[in-house]
Order: sequence, then C-alpha cells, then structure tokens
Amino acid sequence: MTYARITGTGGYLPENIMTNHDLEKIVDTTDQWIRERTGIEQRHIAVEGQTMVDLAEMAARRAIEAADIDAQDIDLIILATSTPDKIFPSSACILQARLDIHGCPAFDVQAVCTGFIYAMTIAEKFITTGSSKKALVIGAEVFSHILNWKDRTTCVLFGDGAGAVILEASEDTGILSTHIHADGKYENLLLVPYGIADGYDKVKAGEAFIEMKGNEVFKVAVNTLGRIVDETLAANNMMKSDIDWLVPHQANIRIITATAKKLKMSMDQVVVTINKHGNTSAASVPLALDVAVRDGRIKPNELLLLEAFGGGFTWGSVLTRF
Ligand code: ACO
Repeated sequence: MTYARITGTGGYLPENIMTNHDLEKIVDTTDQWIRERTGIEQRHIAVEGQTMVDLAEMAARRAIEAADIDAQDIDLIILATSTPDKIFPSSACILQARLDIHGCPAFDVQAVCTGFIYAMTIAEKFITTGSSKKALVIGAEVFSHILNWKDRTTCVLFGDGAGAVILEASEDTGILSTHIHADGKYENLLLVPYGIADGYDKVKAGEAFIEMKGNEVFKVAVNTLGRIVDETLAANNMMKSDIDWLVPHQANIRIITATAKKLKMSMDQVVVTINKHGNTSAASVPLALDVAVRDGRIKPNELLLLEAFGGGFTWGSVLTRF
C-alpha cells in the first residue's frame, strides 16, 4: 500500500511583530481583553511590499531543505490561500516559477482557514493513486491586507505567515485518513463580501475587509471540531488515547482547549502557537506543525491529528503518522 508521508516541514513568519500593546494604540482594546478572550499576545505582519508568495517561497524552501530533496523532483504544487497575490495566474504558478520548477501541476486551493487541510487531502489522493511522488503543499496568508484596522472585533485576531510540507509516496506509513466538509449556508457569518461580482470598487480601494460574527462562529466551530474528531477516530477504529499530538487550527485558545478536552488530551500534547502567531488562517496548521517538529516535540512514528475550521464554513482533519 502506498501512503503519503510528510518528509519535511518549513515555516516563515515576517520579521515585523505587532504586539497587543501596539494594537492598544490604534483601536479601543486592551492587552488583557485580547489575551483572555483569544490567547493572542502578538502576531507577525508583512511589511509594505511583502506578498503572500514571498512568505510561501521562504516556507517552501525550508520544507524542501528539511526533506533533503531536489526541488526539480517535485511533481505537484498545491497552495492554500485566501489572499493570493493576483486574481490570476494562481499563486501556486507564481511560486512554481520562483522555485525554478517547470511542467508539474500547480494550483491554489481556497477554503479559508481549512485550506491547508483541503490541500493535504488533495495531495494525498494524487500520491495514493500514483499521480504524484513528491508534492509541495503550502498554506500561506497575508490577512493583514484584508483587515479593517479600525474594527477591533477582527483586527486583533489575525497575523501573516506561511507553512509548508513535502509529502512523498511511502510504502512505510503516513497519512491514515483525511476528512473535509463544507456548508455554504454559513457564508454570512464570516466573509469578505467583495470581489469581481460585487463591490469591486472596494477591492480597488483596498477596503475589502473581513466581516465576522465572532460569537456565532465560535459556537459552530467548537461543535463542528468536536464532531470531526469523532469522525476521524471512528474511521480509523482508534481511541482518543491513540493520538500523540493535536495540531489544531489556531483561531482561539478557548476553541483549542475545548477540542483537547473532548479528546481528553492534556495541553502538553497540543501544539499551541496562537500566542505568538495569532490566527494565520491557512498557514496556521503547517506553521504549528513546523514549530513542533523543529523543536523536537513531534517525533518519528507519532500519531498526529491536524484539524481546522474556517470561512465557508469549511472544516476538516488529517490523521497522520509522522
Ligand atoms: N477589545 C475589547 N473589547 C472587544 C474587542 C476587542 N478587541 N472585540 C470585541 N470586544 C467587545 C465586544 O464589543 C463585546 O462588548 P459588549 O459586551 O459591550 O457588546 C464584548 O467584547 C464581547 O464580545 P464577543 O464577540 O461576545 O466576545 P467573544 O468572547 O465571543 O470573543 C472572539 C470574540 C475572540 C472573536 C471569539 O468569538 C472567537 O474567537 N470567535 C471564533 C473565531 C473563529 O474561529 N473564526 C474561524 C476561523 S477564522 C477564518 O476562517 C478566517
């Protein structure tokens, strides 16, 4: 049997850090409110001129180096993002050219904060069906570009960054199952309501901002992530205690804690980066994974549950042996 196995991880965060105290100077908020309600202390923000693909390229190069492969051997590139550099070509194609890779399929996936889980799911199918041997899968975002810095209910939550993995075909072990879902009826709870069809003037004016009914999103997220955990364990005939690490989407420490509680996991088995990264949307899961791999917490053969929830709504999980 062929598995898709993670053989290298990489991450990149812009050097520019914005603390909660910095935010106190621009909106009516406090460090205490942000920490208590979200767990966030700081976030990284791209500087003027630094684009999503710039961040993605750094993360991709680090993942390629960690996997110890030649970039020319990559035969599939999937980039999850909601903040592409251009309407077209896809950011995956722009990245492909920068990496001097030519000819392999390259495309973007848009599932907001669940984007990386969607991208992993697609890459896993390519690998297990024999269509790819070495895939580059990235989640990268510059949400700072779609934030209304006058709206305290959203601007304190997000940050910029990129995370990447190399997935390789392996006879040994790797991804055990993937689960992705969507329900478009929730569009109005979390969206950027402007684009080609509607409000294009807002896009041109740089005023196409995130709108979110945070409290309602929170309730659906907690319930949905609880269900996806059950679905993933049932599909693999596994028990909660089989999981070594939870690598969750970093939207709110209270959502993460609720999922850990549902899994009866101690917070020592949960990778938490929200305090330092904020919510980096599609980048948050691969960034968290990269942090815990590089600091030695996640070890070979351990069982990881990756999960995310985001706009759409979309949600999903990946269960993998590392
Ligand atoms: N500083 C100070 N006060 C604030 C701030 C702020 N930054 N933001 C809101 N408040 C106030 C509100 O105005 C409200 O005041 P009121 O009681 O006088 O009306 C009060 O704080 C409580 O507001 P709530 O919205 O009820 O606060 P809540 O505890 O729900 O926390 C939060 C808000 C952090 C947004 C939370 O609801 C959340 O994390 N939601 C889920 C976000 C999420 O998971 N998104 C999905 C992924 S993101 C994606 O896909 C792009």
